[in-house]
Amino acid sequence: MIQITRRETFNAAHRLFNPKWSVEKNFEVFGPCSRVHGHNWELFVTVIGEVSEDTGFVVDLKALSKTMREEVISKVDHTYLNEDVPFLAGKLPTTENFAIAVWNILQPAVKEKHGVDLYKIKLTETANHYVEYYGHS
Ligand code: NI
Repeated sequence: MIQITRRETFNAAHRLFNPKWSVEKNFEVFGPCSRVHGHNWELFVTVIGEVSEDTGFVVDLKALSKTMREEVISKVDHTYLNEDVPFLAGKLPTTENFAIAVWNILQPAVKEKHGVDLYKIKLTETANHYVEYYGHS
């Protein structure tokens, strides 16, 4: 088995804001991240499988890129994550929750469309932090 990763990028705004709390409490917990701000996000999708004898590929990366764009990027690019994205509705759009939601979309889609298993989601919010998720705790 071998892993291969495709990266896609998008821009989106969010705020870390728990609506159950006051503005002051949110600022106490989340600091300036409690205000609306934007990021240039990077989504890395790693799949695992066997190398095909015919193609030498685990997966056709152009096709995987298309799936990532159709299933995720087109739904989040140039949006306000707290309000505009149905698959994040009711969730605090932290990098953690965002990565889990992306996994839940891509895991079945990757299996169905490409016949390989999703191995890891890596979601980079800033140059200094990212989340990696493997579909289990
Ligand atoms: Ni942020």
